[in-house]
Amino acid sequence: MCGIMGYVGSQQAGPILVDGLKRLEYRGYDSAGIAVNNGTIRVQKAEGKIANLQALLEKDALDGCIGIGHTRWATHGAPTDANAHPHADPSGEFVVVHNGIIENFQAIRDELAAAGAEFSSETDSEVLAHLVAREYDGDLVAAVRKTVALCEGAYAMVVISQREPEKIVAVRKISPLVIGLGEGETYLASDIPAVLHRTRDFLIIEDDEMVIVTAEGARVETIEGDPVVREVTHIDWDAEQAEKGGYDHFMLKEIHEQPTVIAETLQGRLDEDGTVWLEDVEFDDEYIADLTGVWITACGTAYHAGLIGQEIFRRVLRLPTNVEYAHELRYADPIIGPRELMIAISQSGETADTLAAARIAPDHGSRMLAITNVVGSTLSRYADDIFYTRAGPEISVASTKAYIAMLIAQYLLALRLGAARGTVDSELAQRVAHGLHRMPGAIEEVLSREHEAVAVAERIVDADDVYFIGRGLDYAIAMEGSLKLKEISYLHSEAMPAGELKHGTLALITDGVPVVVVLTQRAVYDKTISAVQEVKARGGMIIAVAYDTDTEIEKYAELVMRIPDMDDLLAPVAAVVPLQLLAYHVARLRGHDIDQPRNLAKSVTVE
Ligand code: M6R
Repeated sequence: MCGIMGYVGSQQAGPILVDGLKRLEYRGYDSAGIAVNNGTIRVQKAEGKIANLQALLEKDALDGCIGIGHTRWATHGAPTDANAHPHADPSGEFVVVHNGIIENFQAIRDELAAAGAEFSSETDSEVLAHLVAREYDGDLVAAVRKTVALCEGAYAMVVISQREPEKIVAVRKISPLVIGLGEGETYLASDIPAVLHRTRDFLIIEDDEMVIVTAEGARVETIEGDPVVREVTHIDWDAEQAEKGGYDHFMLKEIHEQPTVIAETLQGRLDEDGTVWLEDVEFDDEYIADLTGVWITACGTAYHAGLIGQEIFRRVLRLPTNVEYAHELRYADPIIGPRELMIAISQSGETADTLAAARIAPDHGSRMLAITNVVGSTLSRYADDIFYTRAGPEISVASTKAYIAMLIAQYLLALRLGAARGTVDSELAQRVAHGLHRMPGAIEEVLSREHEAVAVAERIVDADDVYFIGRGLDYAIAMEGSLKLKEISYLHSEAMPAGELKHGTLALITDGVPVVVVLTQRAVYDKTISAVQEVKARGGMIIAVAYDTDTEIEKYAELVMRIPDMDDLLAPVAAVVPLQLLAYHVARLRGHDIDQPRNLAKSVTVE
């Protein structure tokens, strides 16, 4: 996720901007830059770490007391010097930094190019600088307002101009933006930690608001220009808490970011009627219609996401779909046909086994589609087609928000493939689209019931073993819930299909042994309840993840973690959240290092 920084006051802006960007490094980035106005705006920017930018500034510092800065996490275009922010219009008089995505940037770029504009980057952001310059008619605020009216998407945009050198104009549409208030100086940032050591008084900018920042303070308006009265928020957090958005751990912060992650991963890709738009997926309807099967390969949590994909593809596409651990597939000598699509899933895009398995595809003449969170990752470079999830950098070793984004990716792929194969009719397409668009709200609802997961955590914290069961999609969620619990709480856990219990594991179910059952699949509800009864009969402690309206489970379960009623096909997205929270709270009660569990690395780049 990109970082934004701005400063206007009486000190040199350059060092303050760089310092702020360094304090936003935890957000992840692949290039950095600043622009400072001293009558003329000058820009310095560099691919890679902020140290590269600092090396440039040591040789050629930027003089001036007003400026903007940016750390970029690549979305459109590779991480290069040219694609780094800030971006200027051709005259260099209007300079912009931007977080988020301008969905209709290609149409705007084509229009500007047709009028003779030349671009120096591949980014969607550069069109903003061109538009502000084009719309400028003696009033920077009006030019920014007109620019915003032309753009679709979710973003934060910050503009400075030589024409009005005393101000910074910024707009927020979903991507975060805060204003730090100093004495005769004002700061602007995408996140509080950037300037928390300079001020504790902030204006939090809301969606669809604009802010005009000068050394004397900030004026907040709606995007339409109506005045907004915003109270000053005084922040008491320390710097470490601030990086975590006030949460105790990155994992909890990332769990709570999931509604936004879903909204961003869907942004611009799914119409209300279920039509799907995928920018880096090149294959056409003819290719899709000819497909005879799908292979999904991945490791760990990404593999569990693949299990959900497998079930969705089988159900929705009626297409044979295999999901294989990448470390198994790479040595399995699989029989993959040229008309089978390989999907490799990896948050980092750098997992060695996943890369090796993905490379099998071209040997068999089949296409490889990558689902990854990291633009320019090795997996994305190997891929024929790419679905970039937009989860932002995931810092906690235990994957949560990246997993949810992988699920969303696969629902969209299923709709795209199903439309071309004729297996998804308009009723199903609309139903899924409707459910996905409502999902951020549903996840907010689940997050508001965190106390239910805390209550379960308190009951199982001293257990020796925990079992997770479910059927179909619920089994796949049980797998993920079990992995989450074991990797951060070090409590032994195991997941299995509910029907498998009686084939062996039931021998381990005695008085008080916790068994977590996931119960969202109505078609097999009664079958799963049979397994629940088997556990209950042996004295096991039933803990359930169930819909709000499921009263039957209360007969058996000691504790229930509720999710709102929804389409069974989409329920995995909601059902995993209580299990993530459960894992988190058990680990917290056990006093573990939650974000850095023992023996594990965020990215497993060795075999
Ligand atoms: O970066 P990847 O998605 O390829 O990583 C795969 C696994 O290593 C990863 O999901 C791992 O299982 C996590 N620690 C799970 O929380």
